[in-house]
Amino acid sequence: MFTVRVPATIANLGPGFDSFGMAVSLYNRFQFQQAERDSLVFSPEGAADVSALQVGCDSGVGKNLLFVAMDRLFEKAGQSRPPLQVRIIADIPVARGLGSSSTAVVAGLIAANHLLNQPFESLDLLELAVTLEGHPDNVAPALLGGVVLYDELPYRLPWPLEWRVLTVSPNYEVLTEEARRILPTSVVMADAIFNLRKASVLTYALLREDPDAFRASLHDRMHQPYRRQLIAEYEAIERLVMADGALGMIISGSGSTMAIFYPTVIHAFLLEKLQGLIQAEGWPMIVNDLSVDTEGAQLSLAAPGP
Ligand code: HSE
Repeated sequence: MFTVRVPATIANLGPGFDSFGMAVSLYNRFQFQQAERDSLVFSPEGAADVSALQVGCDSGVGKNLLFVAMDRLFEKAGQSRPPLQVRIIADIPVARGLGSSSTAVVAGLIAANHLLNQPFESLDLLELAVTLEGHPDNVAPALLGGVVLYDELPYRLPWPLEWRVLTVSPNYEVLTEEARRILPTSVVMADAIFNLRKASVLTYALLREDPDAFRASLHDRMHQPYRRQLIAEYEAIERLVMADGALGMIISGSGSTMAIFYPTVIHAFLLEKLQGLIQAEGWPMIVNDLSVDTEGAQLSLAAPGP
């Protein structure tokens, strides 16, 4: 028996559409055990609502992408996979823009590589994960940890430890396909220049750990103006947190989760203000108070902890 733990990811980071992503300290854990036939079970210990997914081994986190990923790696190695029981402790909300399906792909590849005695390097796994999942800005940080800029290869960027993240997940899903369908198929030159500048400033801000540059960089004209319309609470939350000293707020991946970046010093104050607004409005939302995950996917030979 062994366990693979994979972090949630915040893709795009505002202006870095389809390019930047970061891993955060919220996890799905996958416990693998040899069995007589394949099965996928969700543990009731997980915080994520997976009720819509519990229909046996042909569905689940990432719609069985876990087994697809394992099989692809075994095929690549010219071997056949033994049947497995996989128990999932899912804390990452599903279809909320936190890379839940990427965790399934990454866990499947890490598990298969372990069962095959590690013939593949992490860059091989990443290449296959990108092919299978289609979103390098989720799978790259999920596998490697930290902040990753992906362009054929992953480029790792630092994240200042004194910057933290609040994720706010509404109780409604936004499917990535739908959130991509609403985007225009071409971009006007002025918007392309805007995003080019902002994404470049984002890189500078991370390399220099510069909060003012970071705050100035987190703006986008390629996807967020369209996707915001799918998240009714976005504007009120943004107004509150920016007035209270947050570094910035973005849509996490394709939504519906919102990610708020803030300096640790305002932690208690910001959390209280945010929870006050959510309670006053009666919004059913999950708030996760997170830091960067710098380790990425981890395999351990023990059963998962609490
Ligand atoms: N970059 C992708 C998008 C991420 O925003 O559509 C999907 O998780």
